[in-house]
Amino acid sequence: MKNELIFSKKIVITAGPTREAIDPVRFISNHSTGKMGYAIAEYLYSLGAQVTVVSGPVNIKTTLPSSAIVNVVSADEMLETTQKFALDADVIIFSAAVADYKCEQIATQKIKKKENSLQLNLVPNVDIAFTISKNKREEQIFIGFALETENGIENAISKLRRKKFDSVVLNLQTEAGSGFGHDTNRIQIVNSDETIIPFEQKLKTEVAVDISNHIVHLLEEKSATIYYA
Ligand code: CTP
Repeated sequence: MKNELIFSKKIVITAGPTREAIDPVRFISNHSTGKMGYAIAEYLYSLGAQVTVVSGPVNIKTTLPSSAIVNVVSADEMLETTQKFALDADVIIFSAAVADYKCEQIATQKIKKKENSLQLNLVPNVDIAFTISKNKREEQIFIGFALETENGIENAISKLRRKKFDSVVLNLQTEAGSGFGHDTNRIQIVNSDETIIPFEQKLKTEVAVDISNHIVHLLEEKSATIYYA
């Protein structure tokens, strides 16, 4: 079913993990499957949005056309591609689980096993959402994700302020059947006015509908504010 407000809106979604190379055959990554980001992208596409998924390495069967997906590997590549699409995006959804660190130097040859311990020098990765938020335009909507094991709401609000998110989807990872690798998720949506919308545990495809409906609501609010300002 097409939705008038979503129709032809340009929506960019970062999804999946990033991989940070150690040497030509090894990398640092995490357990993100990209299921949540892809589910949101597929639902918004079905409503008529122009969707671009900037995707880390995932193993997902998707109904999206290949033209809607740009594959990247590292955080630096994800930033470069997302920045390009961010220029004329109406909505950006930052669902990727970006690796927090990368190797200071990537070995050009396979690192050989030695008797003693191996030390890798890790340096912080670029923060994609924070970097892009510096050029956020008034009419753009940014949605962030937060996965917290303690002080969830407080941490979600501080991420929201720092990265200029309009809303943060807070994943309750500590609950059974929620978060990385599961087909279900329980979320709370935390808004910039600090209101919190709770949801039941549901299939990620159903959570995607809830998040998309929330985005439609934010678009309605924003278009009304900009029109009457
Ligand atoms: N994010 C990003 N680039 C990063 C790290 C995070 O774009 N390098 C985005 C995520 O996609 C998510 C939000 O920022 O939408 C919050 O990510 P999270 O990893 O929870 O936050 P951090 O700021 O990295 O904080 P911490 O890991 O310390 O909780």
